[in-house]
Amino acid sequence: MRLLVTGGMGFIGSNFVRLVLRERPSWTVINLDLLTYAGNPANLADVEREPRYSFVRGDIANAADVRRALVAGCDAIVNFAAETHVDRSIESSEIFLRTNVVGTTTLVEAARALGRCRVVHVSTDEVYGALGPDDPPFTETSRFAPTSPYAATKGAADLLALAYARTFGTDVVVTRCSNNYGPYQFPEKLVPLMITNAIEGKRLPVYGDGLQVRDWIHVEDHCTGLLAALEHGRAGQEYNFGARAERINLDVVRRIVGLIGASPDLVAHVADRPAHDRRYAVLPDKAERELGWRPRRSFDEGLAETVRWYVGNERWWRPVKDGSYRDFYRRWYEERTA
Ligand code: NAD
Ligand code: DAU
Repeated sequence: MRLLVTGGMGFIGSNFVRLVLRERPSWTVINLDLLTYAGNPANLADVEREPRYSFVRGDIANAADVRRALVAGCDAIVNFAAETHVDRSIESSEIFLRTNVVGTTTLVEAARALGRCRVVHVSTDEVYGALGPDDPPFTETSRFAPTSPYAATKGAADLLALAYARTFGTDVVVTRCSNNYGPYQFPEKLVPLMITNAIEGKRLPVYGDGLQVRDWIHVEDHCTGLLAALEHGRAGQEYNFGARAERINLDVVRRIVGLIGASPDLVAHVADRPAHDRRYAVLPDKAERELGWRPRRSFDEGLAETVRWYVGNERWWRPVKDGSYRDFYRRWYEERTA
């Protein structure tokens, strides 16, 4: 298996590359990543010298870059590359359109041209919009009702990928997962931001009343699901992933405060996110039934393990928070392109 992973220098992509290299010893992995602010070579420093792994810097929305990454052929593409932060999409949505919509279409078009190349397109439960307190969780047939520009671009990308499956017979599988947490998550997202701020004794900014609900899954459980979708998913199908772990934001933050031993006075309610989705929850029954997949970690053990990871890996997150990781990246890239 020759696998192209896009966005492999980000949070979920880097965890997936590590999983594949460990669990599939005969596979080779090419990682195509633009190295935006969210792409950090330190995320895969431990596999850099692995002969079955190679890195190509490039943009999924640029057909020439995609062709360069595919020059030696490819059996499958797993597309993680995206702009992923809701708050950034509210600030400015243009790059979300380019990467998430044009980029995904460029990739599925390249797979179509190549022939016999499966695309697993990694998407999100946010395409379904928000649930009320008593609504049943989202299933694969739930209506698309995205509220943020981020979610709208992910929804558009899903529809384009599925349109390629129907129109051209391209082998596409779309997955939609709930909120991930775990090692190497960029500290703009709730869990790593709260853990690292709590360690630093900084304010913990909870949006609005903090009573919004998210459905949490450990990143490694998501990654084993993606591997199962790649190997066993039916072409043209959609699969939701989640771990049936709905939690109120404020409870998550308070649990982190307790695990770190920080002061509860750090919790500060701040202005709410516009159109803040009140609740997400996903039913993973189809993935469990068809892919033989199960999430393994409970939220409590996964969160405690994640807190321990950030406590033990200040060398990873401090340069990300103070911006100096970009200097590391610049040196790293210059060494490899000199
Ligand atoms: P991330 O923001 O941590 O990483 C994104 C990666 O994509 C970075 O390495 C970045 O450099 C790269 N990238 C961005 N634009 C690119 C481009 N034009 N060309 C090539 N590479 C580019 O993201 P993440 O949290 O790991 O999410 C990965 C995927 O999973 C995304 O598609 C996201 O929508 C989806 N997802 C995320 C979650 C979550 O909770 N984080 C949940 C469900 C689905
Ligand atoms: O559901 C899957 C999605 O989960 C992914 O598609 C997105 O890429 C990912 O970013 C995530 O989206 P959310 O908006 O749910 O994640 P975020 O970590 O930004 O916020 C989680 C919740 O915490 C949300 O209700 C907003 C709230 N929040 C977030 C931050 C960053 C706060 O209260 N304070 C904060 O500082």
